[in-house]
Amino acid sequence: MVDTLTQEQISHQDSVGRRRPAPFTFVIFGAAGDLAHRKLFPALYNLMVDGWLSSDCRILGIARRPYQVEEFRSEVGQAIAQHSRRSPDPVILQHLLESTTYLTADFHDAAQYRALKTVLTDPEGRFPPNYLFYLATPPSAYPIIAEHLGSVGLARPAKPEHWVRIIVEKPFGHDLDSAVALNGQLHQVFDESQIYRIDHYLGKETVQNILVFRFANGIFEPLWTRQYIDQVQITVAESLGVAGRGSYYDQAGALRDMVQNHMLQLVSLIAMEPPVAFEADAVRDEKVKVLRSIRPFSTRDVADYTVRAQYEAGVIDGEQVPGFLDEPDIASDSRTESYVALRLLIDNWRWAGVPFYLRTGKRLAKRATEIAIQFKTAPHRFFQQTETPELSPNLLTLKIQPDEGISLRFGAKLPGPEIKVRTVNMEFLYGTSFAGTPPEAYERLLLDAMIGDSTLFTRKDEVEAAWALVSSILSGWQRARGPIPTYEAGSWGPREADYLIERDGFRWRRP
Ligand code: BG6
Repeated sequence: MVDTLTQEQISHQDSVGRRRPAPFTFVIFGAAGDLAHRKLFPALYNLMVDGWLSSDCRILGIARRPYQVEEFRSEVGQAIAQHSRRSPDPVILQHLLESTTYLTADFHDAAQYRALKTVLTDPEGRFPPNYLFYLATPPSAYPIIAEHLGSVGLARPAKPEHWVRIIVEKPFGHDLDSAVALNGQLHQVFDESQIYRIDHYLGKETVQNILVFRFANGIFEPLWTRQYIDQVQITVAESLGVAGRGSYYDQAGALRDMVQNHMLQLVSLIAMEPPVAFEADAVRDEKVKVLRSIRPFSTRDVADYTVRAQYEAGVIDGEQVPGFLDEPDIASDSRTESYVALRLLIDNWRWAGVPFYLRTGKRLAKRATEIAIQFKTAPHRFFQQTETPELSPNLLTLKIQPDEGISLRFGAKLPGPEIKVRTVNMEFLYGTSFAGTPPEAYERLLLDAMIGDSTLFTRKDEVEAAWALVSSILSGWQRARGPIPTYEAGSWGPREADYLIERDGFRWRRP
């Protein structure tokens, strides 16, 4: 049998043997919602296909909607068929659905948590007593659910050999004060070691590869400093608009929605010092240090080094799309930003003076997430007398999505009798180097929470440090008057963002 397995399959089997979580009950609050349907159930299905879930695991969906269990299972089956990266195998799907049940409950009603406890602790022992609670609800429900779980005694394991963990979705707070308050409320019931604050960017293969690229290779790290790097650009461009989430997005905006979490996570991974071990607290200690070293924004910095903007109507992929203010559930006088660009400075030995430019927006020309590291040009213009006076700086681009890969730009001699330099790219593409579809971010993150590895989850101090920085920008924006710049849907953002970077002598890259 082993002879017929590929090396990759053998190594997968080894990993499953080592990391497979003990049987547990996965309780999803908000199980009827979009996140559960699009991400959580498909992730559970794929984890089951890959052998990570033992057959004794149970899933309990909870939401206000009054489903019959069969009706709920049928919806879950459809969601998996529609959103899973692999088309469902009927036998495995059937097993997952049979392991899934549903409870109608109002999250605010204390009595229903007693009912939940009765179900989970039924004398037949159908629900393994390791509990993984997932909060896929509106954020206002997070503290209420945590408090009720605590008061019915479900926040602590019944026996020392069991465990209880809670996964909290984003947004984690609305500003620094609310994030600190939410941490306080969760901590009244759960220990930090039980809390898994999810940021799905950390589950992306290409994001995890940042650490591998930096710390599993000897050649890049010596160059990874202010001595050799001129600037770093991080772009998270989306062509989608607010996509039916207008009421949430109008309260949030691009800074809270993307920068506070995903983009600052990318900054931390790019800028952190090597951790002493690839272990949860060692990695997160280094990330927190980066966040704390980012210079907070004074009111003046906010005016000079941040740009927020809203999209106007335009054309994307040949289709006319409405402007931000005409989107459903966006107030017609909204000042919420659908685009943000900013310059960060990291005040530490490694990065002093190296600008980090971040930009993200909805309805941009195309979907592209990438990190571009521009190196300083050669110190001596050796080829000055030839026809190549302007040499492009070397550029290392980590492409996170959708065309995952890494490329290095350098100068090469154009064949011929003269010295002419042409810029060329050395490319690594995930799709061609590795076969198969990689796991989705939620698969990796759910699995880690199941086995109790919090390396890829945001710690309390990390989330607060990110909010402290973002709050310094928000308060500058609150004081600012005047109209918010606009950009045409389908463009690369407002002109003001170009000024922001061109003032320093750089230009935005075109992904
Ligand atoms: C979410 C944001 O966290 O990330 C969305 O709330 C955004 O507004 C999404 O579209 C982007 O995620 P991805 O994985 O598509 O880059």
